Formats: sequence, structure tokens, C-alpha cells
Amino acid sequence: MSDKKEKIVAIKGMNDILPADAPLWELFENTAESVLKSYGYQKIVTPIVEETGLFARAIGAVTDIVEKEMYSFTDSMNGDLLTLRPEGTAGVVRAVVEHNLAYDGPKRLWYKGPMFRHERPQRGRYRQFFQFGAEAIGFSGPDIDAELIMLCRRLWDDLGLDGIRLELNSIGNADERQRHRADLIAYFEANADVLDAEAKRRLHANPLRILDTKNPAMQDLVNAAPQLLSYLGEESLAHFDGLKAILDANNVQYTVNPRLVRGLDYYNRTVFEWVTDALGAQGTVCAGGRYDPLIETFGGKPTPGIGFAMGIERLVELMKAQGEPAEPAQCDVYMVHQGEQARLRAFILAERIRDAGLDVVLHCATPAGAGSFKSQMKKADGSGAAFAVIIGEDEVSNGVVAVKSLREAEGQQESVAFDAAVDYLVDQIVGGHDHDHDHDHVHYHP
Ligand code: HAM
Repeated sequence: MSDKKEKIVAIKGMNDILPADAPLWELFENTAESVLKSYGYQKIVTPIVEETGLFARAIGAVTDIVEKEMYSFTDSMNGDLLTLRPEGTAGVVRAVVEHNLAYDGPKRLWYKGPMFRHERPQRGRYRQFFQFGAEAIGFSGPDIDAELIMLCRRLWDDLGLDGIRLELNSIGNADERQRHRADLIAYFEANADVLDAEAKRRLHANPLRILDTKNPAMQDLVNAAPQLLSYLGEESLAHFDGLKAILDANNVQYTVNPRLVRGLDYYNRTVFEWVTDALGAQGTVCAGGRYDPLIETFGGKPTPGIGFAMGIERLVELMKAQGEPAEPAQCDVYMVHQGEQARLRAFILAERIRDAGLDVVLHCATPAGAGSFKSQMKKADGSGAAFAVIIGEDEVSNGVVAVKSLREAEGQQESVAFDAAVDYLVDQIVGGHDHDHDHDHVHYHP
């Protein structure tokens, strides 16, 4: 047997988010959280694992997700059938009903976290991916639809993202879809020779989804199919018109896409997608819609709902493609030291500087050793810190530290009394000295 250990790698389609990308993720999440907060949305966290039946009931039995993409397993302890959540809406709605959250009026909620779908991995499509989502429960008018859409627009603006266009449709209510469905089935039956195997299978179970086909040979057929929009009754039309009027009044650009039907069954009336051309085939960065009947199917009182979810990987990739990500500093101060006594002093001072609210990285030994002053200073430069604090034997015996500015090419080096070093650094870093620098990044948190 060879001694060489086989490498274990991550599961296909499930990615590590490495430190180089973490700042962009953090920027996305912080910006999204503050935008949601500015519209009064509250955070909710639901479990990653739920009963399998929850998703079949919410998303629909004849959908790609439920038919072939769920990570389902039997709990070996008790035989329960469980599933890693493929999306967030089902769990949020379950929680709203279970805890009677909407008893005292409507709720605006948001969530983030990993979702799991056994899809064929490709650029922008993964088996574990992260969503940032919002659900507004208990609002019936088109105003909340507009709010959710405008909240997305604000987020794109705050992130500096361009070229994300809005596609909008109304898929009416169950009766309207039923009448459309009957005509649609008749239409597809009359053209059965053009249908592919998938479409034939879906013809009676879920003909609306045939409109979503990517098969080029079927495009003419689906383009000429009866359009759901022309089956909408007065109320559905009024809702859709109401939404469009608010969007128009607020200068939100959109196109009505009559073929936008979404891949989950819980939707009614408003559905929408935000799409970019900059990411190749997987260009939908955010998608959502209304699901007024869903809460009732979970045993709750009839309560309307609407929401969206964004794919964070796709948005982070777009941020990368469109912006110059600022290289954020790892810390404010990097501690360089040489010798046993100096190391003890460095530890004490680093804790005091952190007490004062600054971030400090203290140089630590590696298998290659403690490192010369020169190699430690290289690390200090690379850290993006504003200052290096240097302690050698001379500094220890004189009761001082050397403080070197790393932001100027010819950085000044000052000798500062050990006990005055904290105040000196806070004054230099927080006191405004460095604040006009573009790359300035103060970690101050008193
Ligand atoms: P969805 O369209 O299935 O809707 O997913 C929403 C977004 O999640 C997509 O537009 C995409 O950005 C991202 N996404 C989906 N699948 C993947 C994947 N395999 N890899 C990477 N990103 C992906 C929902 O999930 C609904 N729960 C949205 C919603 C909330 N509707 C109402 N409320």
C-alpha cells in the first residue's frame, strides 16, 4: 500500500468561498441587508433541512425541482423523509403559519443562506448556491409588488451594477390559468408532431411549463401559442395595471414578457425576473412573484404573499465583472517583533490596541521560523495595514516602539513611548490623518 493519501475534494457543484472573494460577498450581503432594512424588512432564519413533503406541496409535484433536483434522504434514526431545502419560500411560509406570525398584520421578512439543487453544474449554476430573499406576507395590492421590485433596483444602484433588466408578467389566478390551460392543451395537441418528448410528458400535467422550453425546434410553436395575458379577468388585469402604473411613475423600466411563467407552481398574478446578458446562459440574478394561495395550502388563514430570491454567486460574479474590487486591508496595524522580550511586549501592546477599537495582526512563527525583520515588514506591507509597529531588543530596552506609516512611499518612522503607542495610533488612524486616501479602510470599532 502506498503512503500517499488521496486528496479529498469538494462535492461537484458545491463551492468554497475563498478569502479572496469573501470581501465581495460581504459587500453584497451588507448592502442587501441595509437596503432591506431601509424598507422595514425583518430577518428570519429557517432550517436548511425540512420534511420532503413541504417542498412537494409548496413548489409542486410536477416541477424540475421536485421531480429531479432535490437532495432527499431518509433519516436513519427514525425513518423520516427529509430534504435539503432547494429554495427559501416554502420554509418561510411554513414558519409563518407554524408561529402564526401574520396574526397581528402583514409581515415583511428577509433571509439568506445556502440552497441545494441537484442540477447539472455550469457557470452560474451550482448544486449548493446562496440566495438572498424577501417575502412580504399579508399584502394584497400591487403596491407591495412595486416595493419589492424597487427595492431590487435600489440594491443594483447601491452596488453600482448596470444592465440588469426587469421582465414582468401576470399569470392570473387559478380559474384564468385553467381556461388558458384547456386552450393551450388543445393547441399543443393539434401540433403534436412538433412537441419533443419532455413537452409530450408535460402536456397534460403542466402545459404552461412547455412555454418555457429552450428547444429551438419548438420556439415558433410556443411563440404562437395562446397567451395567458389575454385570459386575465378584470381583477387580475387591474392588479397588473396598478403595478405597471407605480413602476412607470417611478421610472422603473421593464418589459412585459408573456412567456415568463417561472419554474415553481406556487405563483399567481405578478411574476418577475431581473436578467443580465453579462453572465452567459445563467443570466437571471433575481426572480420572484406573488403566491396568494400558498399559505392556505399550509393550513393557514387565506393570506396573500409575494417575494423574490437573488442568486448571490451570480451577483458577486457580476460585481467582479463590472467593478474594480477594492483590495480591503486585513487590519489597521501589523505588529513586527524580534526576540523573546519583544514578542511579549508585542502581545501586550496588540491587545491594548484592539481594546482601543483597531484591528491588529501580530506576526506569528511559521514552520520556516519567526522571520527576519525584512520578511516581517513584507508581510506588513501586504496586509494593507496603515501602520507597522516594530519592536526589537533596542525598543524593549528603551521602553519605546517604532511606528512606521505604510501608506506613504517614503513612510515616516517614529519612535513612540510604549505607553503612548495606543493613543498615537488611534490619533493617526482615526483622527483623520489618512482619511483622504482612496483605499482608506479603517477597522475602527470602539
Ligand atoms: P428561483 O427562480 O428558483 O426562485 O431562484 C431564484 C434565483 O436563485 C435565481 O434567479 C438564481 O439567481 C438563483 N439560483 C437558482 N438556482 C440556482 C443554481 N442552481 N445555482 C445558482 N443560482 C441559482 C426561487 O427560489 C423562489 N423561492 C423565489 C421567490 C421567493 N419567489 C417568491 N419568493
